[in-house]
Amino acid sequence: MKVEKIEVIDFDKKSALQCALKVAKEYFGKTPDRVKYLGGGSFGIAVGVHYKSGRSAVIKFLRSDGMLEKEVHDLKLLKRHCPIKIPSVFFARKRGGGIPADCYGMETIEGKSCLFSFGMLLKGKRYRQQFADQITSALHSIHEYTGEKFGDTMSPECDDWLDFYRPFALSVLKAAERLYVAGRLSRTIIDVMHSAWAKFDVIFSEKVERACLIHGDLNVGNIMVGKGYKISGIIDPLNSMYADREYDLFQFDNLTGKRFFLRETYIKKYGASRYCMQKLAFYGLWNEVYCYIRSGVLVGIIMNPLVKNMKRQLEKI
Ligand SMILES: Nc1ncnc2c1ncn2[C@@H]1O[C@H](COP(=O)(O)OP(=O)(O)O)[C@@H](O)[C@H]1O
Ligand SMILES: [Mg+2]
Repeated sequence: MKVEKIEVIDFDKKSALQCALKVAKEYFGKTPDRVKYLGGGSFGIAVGVHYKSGRSAVIKFLRSDGMLEKEVHDLKLLKRHCPIKIPSVFFARKRGGGIPADCYGMETIEGKSCLFSFGMLLKGKRYRQQFADQITSALHSIHEYTGEKFGDTMSPECDDWLDFYRPFALSVLKAAERLYVAGRLSRTIIDVMHSAWAKFDVIFSEKVERACLIHGDLNVGNIMVGKGYKISGIIDPLNSMYADREYDLFQFDNLTGKRFFLRETYIKKYGASRYCMQKLAFYGLWNEVYCYIRSGVLVGIIMNPLVKNMKRQLEKI
């Protein structure tokens, strides 16, 4: 995982809709009857393409080179190990021929993201608990698929989790220090990062025994819910790895995740290491700073609770 700013291709929503028409014609033989912008973040833009026949697909454009192969590889790998639907990939297309960004086409998952399904927030506790039960079981099935080595799914090379994670965490800290000096990262954030780094050996004192396959970005935004608020799929892996399985749990507490008891349900069912809560705070904060380094966009509603949580967890050691 390179800790540096990612160059993004100048590609907006309007271009994505136009390109989706062309790409769909290329792969499905016909211009779609309707295209719809579905959403996107710093690096991806998803467009739904629909035909009157009822056929549809989602085309996801990637605004940076070098993401296509991994995203497609990880979707296919995770799909084989997940009991909840993960979209099948129909095709992958490098940029060129009038399309400025790499893209891939995939199966449409019914419904919408749990993050934007406001009815989900109002569901009773029993329902939300069931939801957590299903999601955590599925995630655990993914985690049960283990590798010999730790690291990126496409090239796992490390014998030990910390051989992989410590250099990464240090690079993030160094990049954060440079941002602080440049006046682009607050004193509060860099101070708490230094306090956490000083406790690294305690937080990570328990050896991670198994190199578990992880989704890498399973927050509520990447869980889809369909009719009757039934879970319809899991999408959008990012930084999938063979890793400490607890690395997959910090995303559960981001955004509205806590309302669904996801992290606590996973831990109740499958156990946790001694310093799990400190590790999750560390993983969460470091990941968010890493995202900021790569995208240049600091998302306050995610970053601020992570900073507070790191402080709180450090006080408990
Ligand atoms: N296969 C799919 N089926 C239906 N909707 C999808 C699919 N993939 C993405 N989306 C929609 O597009 C949005 C953005 O896609 P996502 O892959 O999560 O991109 P990002 O990397 O920007 O988070 C999702 O929140 C979801 O609403
Ligand atoms: Mg997403």
